[in-house]
Amino acid sequence: MGRVVVVGSGIAGLSAALRANTLGHDVTVVTKAGASDGSTRHAQGGIAAALFPDDSVDAHIADTVRAGAGLNVREAVEALCSDGPLRVGELIALGAEFDRDGDALARGLEAAHSSARVLHAGGDATGAELERALIAAVHAAGIPVVEGAFLDDVIVEDARATGVSLRIGGAPLRLAADAVVLATGGWGRLYAHTTNPPVATGDGVAAAWRAGAVLADLEFTQFHPTALYRPDAGSAGAFLVSEAVRGEGAVLRNARGERFMTDVHPDAELAPRDVVARGIAVEMAAQGGRPVLLDATALGGAFLARRFPTIDAATRAAGYDWAAHPIPVTPAAHYAMGGVATDTEGRTTVPGLFAVGEVACTGTHGANRLASNSLLEGLVYGHRAAEAVDLPWTDEPPAWVREAAVASPSPATRAASRPFDRARLGDLLWEAAGVHREGARLSAAAAELAATALPEPGEDADLLTLGRLVVAAALSREESRGAHFRSDFPLPAEGAAAHTVLIPSSSSAPSAALTRPTRSEVPAAC
Ligand code: SIN
Repeated sequence: MGRVVVVGSGIAGLSAALRANTLGHDVTVVTKAGASDGSTRHAQGGIAAALFPDDSVDAHIADTVRAGAGLNVREAVEALCSDGPLRVGELIALGAEFDRDGDALARGLEAAHSSARVLHAGGDATGAELERALIAAVHAAGIPVVEGAFLDDVIVEDARATGVSLRIGGAPLRLAADAVVLATGGWGRLYAHTTNPPVATGDGVAAAWRAGAVLADLEFTQFHPTALYRPDAGSAGAFLVSEAVRGEGAVLRNARGERFMTDVHPDAELAPRDVVARGIAVEMAAQGGRPVLLDATALGGAFLARRFPTIDAATRAAGYDWAAHPIPVTPAAHYAMGGVATDTEGRTTVPGLFAVGEVACTGTHGANRLASNSLLEGLVYGHRAAEAVDLPWTDEPPAWVREAAVASPSPATRAASRPFDRARLGDLLWEAAGVHREGARLSAAAAELAATALPEPGEDADLLTLGRLVVAAALSREESRGAHFRSDFPLPAEGAAAHTVLIPSSSSAPSAALTRPTRSEVPAAC
């Protein structure tokens, strides 16, 4: 049995840790802040799984693929939806307490689901309950959790991941490992407006890039349609108003009080998330940038307080009575569909390095993630990666990676002229690579990012790296698909949809399998 280091302590990392521990590995979890400071705790709506007699795994697969706009990797979706019910059952056995209707599990409906299959806990506090149950299980299993440990790098020796270098309170620490599991979450903090917590700075994907791992589909950022509009939110971020609120019947209105999603999509407010986010952005532009309104008043104050206690408290704290009046909402960056390219066992293109959860790109979500599939992804793929630790490493990247188009970011240097400014980076990404994109704006952003000096290693450097990679990927995709909308290429390209990969010059992936005519080598320092 080997030594496994899991970087990250959300649902993906803790699931991997628990399974690896059960299989007899020597497991350590490291995490850069407090164990529960990541995105999992903030997840509201719930976790989707085909657990009910009027539902099926096939229906869940079909909904996931429909929302993903034709870019999903079929076997990854099948793994997610088929393993889902079993893994959720284990989570319940572990002590996670989901809401119930009498003896039965309560279930909610969310956008683009053909049936109500979303389990929730504490009304709208699902992530908090799952994080609680998993942390308790990890502590009970005696797995060490090292908090405050920032990931400087994945150590690669002889083209294989052999550990991690960390910084704890400024002091360096190296941990050797037979397998490194990245479960560091996403990079919503790259954007000026995001539902993500402050820790979501893309450290894992940036470290994987420096380690030579192939990245995929970074252009696909999901913008959640309904974050509470708070111009003074600052570092608190944009407060999420769950899609489950629309699932229960709330509607969107423009400044004149008119519903507008009914003119955009047959499913109106319950259309796929990218469609609703764009519908809102168009409506906001037409009303001079003012937010649209989420009208939940028909649901009644008692129901809202019982079903959505977290949102009820947050909206009231912000000065709104959502039972009496519609509340202002806007889209905000919410989730990264792309990440470190992996197969269905979480294996990256660097032997010994796994990636699970939001940091990974299995291709499951395609161009737009189906609501409440993210907690499920962490649960399923954390478990699958742990099971694969002892499997022989496959030499070839998965077919969808080999068949992808290649994007190349411009290289970065510490000597570049423009000083780094995190707020400017957020505004730039929001304007150029936000809900609506356009080639000239993306090119200007790429030039500005290339001229920006790379800060010393840390969150800022990781965010700048991500910014360059996201913009390069968005520039290279000359079509509109799912969450990636280009006003200069407003339609999907004809023919089969291809994924986008970014290949660092230090990539250990078999070069013959990944070399493309468009490929240009880029320095790993980017
Ligand atoms: C929400 O509750 O709307 C967010 C759930 C998700 O991102 O899947």
